[in-house]
Amino acid sequence: PLISTTPMLEKARADKHGIVAFNVHSFDSIFWVLEAAAELRSPVIVQTTVGTVKQLGAKNIVQVVTAASEYYDIPTGLHLDHCTDLEVIKEAIHAGYTSVMIDASMHSFEKNVERTKKVIDLAKSLGVNIEAELGKVGGVEDDIVVNEEDAQKAVPIECKQFVDSTGVPTLAPAIGTAHGIYKGKPNIDFNRIAEIAKIVDVPLVLHGGSAVPDEDVRRCVALGMAKVNVSTELKNAYSEAIRNHFATEPESLDPRAYLQKAKDAAKEIAKSKIRMVDSENKV
Ligand code: 13P
Ligand code: ZN
Ligand code: NA
Repeated sequence: PLISTTPMLEKARADKHGIVAFNVHSFDSIFWVLEAAAELRSPVIVQTTVGTVKQLGAKNIVQVVTAASEYYDIPTGLHLDHCTDLEVIKEAIHAGYTSVMIDASMHSFEKNVERTKKVIDLAKSLGVNIEAELGKVGGVEDDIVVNEEDAQKAVPIECKQFVDSTGVPTLAPAIGTAHGIYKGKPNIDFNRIAEIAKIVDVPLVLHGGSAVPDEDVRRCVALGMAKVNVSTELKNAYSEAIRNHFATEPESLDPRAYLQKAKDAAKEIAKSKIRMVDSENKV
């Protein structure tokens, strides 16, 4: 069933395991993400960017995720990722999303507080989870682009002030990861995470989960980062399988053949990420 991600993530932080939030880009991918979670008996979060909402429709996404979560019998959250637009947030909440991110990280601290509060007023009484970002996560996620030099880590004391003044139930502090695949190794500031986690008791969110070594993600989770976002690695595995298929069978015409390969490849990644955060057998 479709559930709010607030209790799901609070429990995960308390139990010191993570929940993976997978970005999906098609109806099809909703099913294999849920299938991966079901095979491991793991709670899971499905998330879409604004671009995906525009392409597929919020109501359609809610219906498909609801159907899949019931079919696979897995507690599932449905989250709107990196949204800057209050109208799209309203649309998602109205359609039945159980969690929304207000990304006002490009604004001043005060404006971020103000915009986050607006979303809390819209969402919290409905049991919808709210996520906000402090600092700036680098890299490219759909139409949000942050250059390396503009990426900025969150300041621990500001995280506390932010949570205290907004009442936001989940916080994504930038701590050195970036969206996409890294040129080198990500430079994660574990001390900063520990400092934030000591003074902020809401579940924290790790953005840019692709291409972070498993042991680094596990350290983040152990420190309180209960939600781990993964997008690029799934997209890459899926696309590469299709590319390889057509490289050897350029005349291929049966979508089932290449979509099956794409699904198998992406599902394997999804399962490895679920094992990484130790949410297996937590249903
Ligand atoms: P990656 O693309 O690095 O997995 O980041 C995902 C993310 O943070 C989505 O919000
Ligand atoms: Zn992100
Ligand atoms: Na990444």
